[in-house]
Amino acid sequence: MHTIDFEGETLTCEDGAVLRDVLLRADHPVHNGPRLVSCHGLGSCGTCAVAVSGDAAESTRRERLRLSIPPHNSDDGLRLSCQVRVTDDLTVTKHDGFWGTDRPDDRER
Ligand code: FES
Repeated sequence: MHTIDFEGETLTCEDGAVLRDVLLRADHPVHNGPRLVSCHGLGSCGTCAVAVSGDAAESTRRERLRLSIPPHNSDDGLRLSCQVRVTDDLTVTKHDGFWGTDRPDDRER
């Protein structure tokens, strides 16, 4: 069992659970836009991006590829929640914007 801290709530899940599935099951907003326009977990749309603190499983090739395509940036440290297997306790943050890329610091500029 692992815990996921997300927006002040602590969720629990089995080892190896898909992060997006855990968050959606708990009714948490993984997508800032309508979920219907997402790829539903295939790792191609990029709208389920979140910031993850903790020892998450390695990125998949598909995840690295999608995160290298704008508006994402390989260096921004975000993960695609649909591609993250939970293998440790995590703290997860969803940033603003359609792609989940708008950090609070960005708004202050
Ligand atoms: S739901 Fe589309 S990339 Fe994750």
